[in-house]
Amino acid sequence: MSDQRIAVLGGGNMGRALIGGLLRSGTRPERVSVGETSEAARLALARELGVTATADNARAIENAALVVLAVKPYQAQAVLTALAPLLQLSRPLVVSVAAGARLASLEAWCGAGVPVVRAMPNRPALVGAGATALYAPPGVGPELRAAAERLARALGEVVWVPQEDHLDLVTALSGSGPAYFFLLAELMAEAGTGLGLDAATARRLATATLYGSGLMAATADADLAGLREAVTSKGGTTAAALAVFAGADFKGTVERALAAAARRSRELGAPAAGHS
Ligand SMILES: NC(=O)c1ccc[n+]([C@@H]2O[C@H](COP(=O)([O-])OP(=O)(O)OC[C@H]3O[C@@H](n4cnc5c(N)ncnc54)[C@H](OP(=O)(O)O)[C@@H]3O)[C@@H](O)[C@H]2O)c1
Repeated sequence: MSDQRIAVLGGGNMGRALIGGLLRSGTRPERVSVGETSEAARLALARELGVTATADNARAIENAALVVLAVKPYQAQAVLTALAPLLQLSRPLVVSVAAGARLASLEAWCGAGVPVVRAMPNRPALVGAGATALYAPPGVGPELRAAAERLARALGEVVWVPQEDHLDLVTALSGSGPAYFFLLAELMAEAGTGLGLDAATARRLATATLYGSGLMAATADADLAGLREAVTSKGGTTAAALAVFAGADFKGTVERALAAAARRSRELGAPAAGHS
């Protein structure tokens, strides 16, 4: 599939992130075509990334072995049903990043015989440091799975989940997860300011701490509890802070927060699409 064309439908935030990642990892711009309704976005894509962008999605998917659906979830049905006859003729692999759009709906909109894989990326994909979970139904074979995985790698880290409803759990963890870390950094900066640091200094310290800790945690063999223990000496400052977290049931709070997000993801995804 390495010389075949890739079509991206929707050249917004996620579409652009994906194209940028593909180009950085060696895909030639001539191999990528974009279907995008906004003229301003099309011009920017051509100018900044050197890819062909058209308002005509049917043209965008011509000769494409891989079609990425990167429009908003509520637009997915209209985009795919309009292309269904063409998709059924050429049968490219369709990879959907539309949050909450269920496989059964996507397959029905594409029509018989079109292989579909769902991808759930997260916001840091916009800076090439995303976490994407993929789900493919049993009918999608190893070659197509490998193609979907190569594509998702353009956004950062990739994992596979064994069943579609795990994507609701992924949404709760890595999909909404960036907000949890931003909140923690925000609260740490505010608390630092409350203790007497100036606001700009507190903010820089909070965000640099988030970034550096993220780098340490992201190494493949990182032992998260071990990393935490390494900064926690008995009777020290970190232990004093962690005792306050434990007293406020931080663990239970995180568990309940993720459960609420997973529940909401299920609600929003039933029966078709609805959120990002
Ligand atoms: N952004 C994230 O952090 C994130 C994370 C996980 C998943 N996702 C998923 O990624 C998908 C895209 O999100 P996004 O943030 O990239 O949205 P976005 O910035 O709004 O991009 C969607 C683009 O598609 C264009 N479009 C609309 N209708 C179209 C059509 N019929 N044919 C071709 N292009 C069309 C839109 O143009 P107009 O502006 O003119 O409508 C817009 O430029 C969503 O399904 C979302 O669930 C996003």
